[in-house]
Amino acid sequence: MMKHQVIVVGGGLAGLRAAVETAMLGVDTAVLSLLYPVRSHSGAAQGGINGALANMEECKDDSPAKHAYDTIKGSDFMADQDCAEIMTTDAPARIYELEHWGVPFSRTADGRIAQRPFGGAGYPRTCYAADKTGLYILHTLNEQAVKHGIKVYNEWAAIAVASDGTASHGLVALNLQTGEIESFAADAIIFATGGAGRIFRRTSNAMQSTGYCLGVAYKAGVPLKDMEFVQFHPTTIVGTNILMSEAARGEGGYLVNNQGERFMARYAAKAMELAPRDIVSRSIQTEINEGRGFPEGGGCVHLDLRHLGREKILERLPGIRDLAISFLGIDCIEKPIWVQPGQHFIMGGIDTDKDGATILPGLYAAGECAAVSVHGANRLGGNSLLECVVMGQRSGAAAAQYVKGKASAVKEAVLADAAKKATAEVEALLNSEGKERLVNLRDRMADTMTNHIGIYREEKAMKEALATLQELRVCYRQIGVDAKTRKFNLDLLRTIELGGMLDAAEAMAAGALARQESRGAHSRLDFKTRDDANWLKHTLAHHTPDGARLEYEPVTITKWQPEERKY
Ligand code: FUM
Repeated sequence: MMKHQVIVVGGGLAGLRAAVETAMLGVDTAVLSLLYPVRSHSGAAQGGINGALANMEECKDDSPAKHAYDTIKGSDFMADQDCAEIMTTDAPARIYELEHWGVPFSRTADGRIAQRPFGGAGYPRTCYAADKTGLYILHTLNEQAVKHGIKVYNEWAAIAVASDGTASHGLVALNLQTGEIESFAADAIIFATGGAGRIFRRTSNAMQSTGYCLGVAYKAGVPLKDMEFVQFHPTTIVGTNILMSEAARGEGGYLVNNQGERFMARYAAKAMELAPRDIVSRSIQTEINEGRGFPEGGGCVHLDLRHLGREKILERLPGIRDLAISFLGIDCIEKPIWVQPGQHFIMGGIDTDKDGATILPGLYAAGECAAVSVHGANRLGGNSLLECVVMGQRSGAAAAQYVKGKASAVKEAVLADAAKKATAEVEALLNSEGKERLVNLRDRMADTMTNHIGIYREEKAMKEALATLQELRVCYRQIGVDAKTRKFNLDLLRTIELGGMLDAAEAMAAGALARQESRGAHSRLDFKTRDDANWLKHTLAHHTPDGARLEYEPVTITKWQPEERKY
């Protein structure tokens, strides 16, 4: 059995920032990660990180309060306003901290951190390092983790939280290198396991962004919040759905249909291509559905950057140029890029308070896997990296406070029971000769979610999705794992992941079916308007053997009364 005061699950931005905080506070900390931290999906984040630094001429009168208002309006008034304000108020300090730690931000002519426009923002507020911002921050935080001597368990998969219902007592995890299941005694655990894009067919997320750890927390008795709010990024490469950063539109790129029109004029006449993502994705999908798209990849539009000129593209957008050349054979200096919306982010996740604490004492969550809620029904671009560093720091500080100066309260018997149960479950999977195949079940789940819980939703399709997910749950009990090896058994890992993915998918579908309104990224053809009287409330999905049990809790409104969103 391994022992640490705090175990952080996940080596991306939120996880590393949390671990650096606990380590700086003198707490024995370890990170447990599926991948070497610098391979985390945070490294694929391109466009930037928001903070009201007021560095550009056009944003001299920007402020954290204006950033909070934009965030809350962007969230379709679903964000908890106290939490959004905490995030935007903390933003400048967190960004300067990253700068001091060595992030090579792009600069203004006089040497300050440069800021670019992003969707739904009243000012150029997004700090960036060309179009590789996430990668640079990830490497910088990894350097800090090394500097603070944080122990990293690389290539481990968390499979269960040990809980006696009153507190968490540690973690059970699978060592991918050996196939052994081991216990980790820890007084506090911070989940920072990222997104769940692979639940969908079309996603910008990496292979490891399965979201299965949402299921791990859910089964430990922690509710999942607002899972119906799923973000579809407007511009992903047709076919592969690799991200084409919003920075491309922030720098002045156009979206064009098969009539040669900048069609955003029809949907958001003022903000145009820089409307929030829910609106831009719906607009693109409408153009495609109504025959004004291009046929490639099942329907797409053009992202046209040619007018930006070679120099600006090479300086500000070199990464997306390379990606479009590699994956489409298109050089955006010469031709438009074919783009379509793809799942990009989940606004929902493990229910936490403003310090990342869940209802299970000792269990915390931060970053995309958590729902604080700072993004409500729709996240603004550039607020994700910000959430990672703000909530990473806060959850680290809170976890450190929870464990510091106290004798360990871990109940080893509870941990041993959890390890025994998890081992039996994994052994049963490994030895199963069941007739169902992983790839078939995963494909059906991903197609169902993209087709029925997508950009536009309606009752009949969502009921079908729920029925399919329930059927898949039954099939999952008959799944056979073909590979029987212990070491690096990815067949086994993917099978374990599928169990958690089905839980998370079911919470998304159940929440979406129940929510009879359109708000932010949840857009229903059968309930077309927002309904504050009945639905200005958070969904909490509780795990039961028969599926999600839904409850609701109020949204915190402080300074900004809900109003119609116009862009
Ligand atoms: O478009 C992008 O660069 C993505 C940014 C984000 O999701 O915040």
